[in-house]
Amino acid sequence: MLNKKVEKALNDQIKVEADSSHAYLAMASWAEINGYPGASAFLYAHSDEERMHMLKLIKFVNDRGGKAIIPSVSEPGKDFKNLKNIFDLLLSHEHNVTAAINNVVDVCLKEKDYTTHNFMQWYVSEQIEEETLAHHIIDQLNLIGNDKGALYFFDRDVANMKGAAPSGGQAK
Ligand code: FEO
Repeated sequence: MLNKKVEKALNDQIKVEADSSHAYLAMASWAEINGYPGASAFLYAHSDEERMHMLKLIKFVNDRGGKAIIPSVSEPGKDFKNLKNIFDLLLSHEHNVTAAINNVVDVCLKEKDYTTHNFMQWYVSEQIEEETLAHHIIDQLNLIGNDKGALYFFDRDVANMKGAAPSGGQAK
């Protein structure tokens, strides 16, 4: 049986991933209707990835004899100023996700649950990748500033960065 404290931490993380998926879905939709098809594809795919992160946790909890709790999701933001604003929010959101994952890892160590600790290492690595990518994108947007031509090319290129599937639908 899954340790109860670990189970609670994993269920909390299920909600974090569900909220992340929802937050990026709202951003994808905004980008779609504001003339950024590339960023929209990236964000739709990122939203799908977060759903996959959530599903992976649900399966793990249930497979280990626990009970996954399917959470209600928090209302996502909807009033975005521009792409820079979106990616700043995305990075700040990912910092919070990393803190949440570190908390799960901490509970695993305190409870001596090395199996779940091992499982969580995938999330630890994933966070490093996601934060690095978000930093990289924000650096590019800072360089671009208000240059509309450069923004056009950025939007075209961001569609092909990790996280964006051509269909806008597949998790990696
Ligand atoms: Fe699943 Fe981007 O954290």
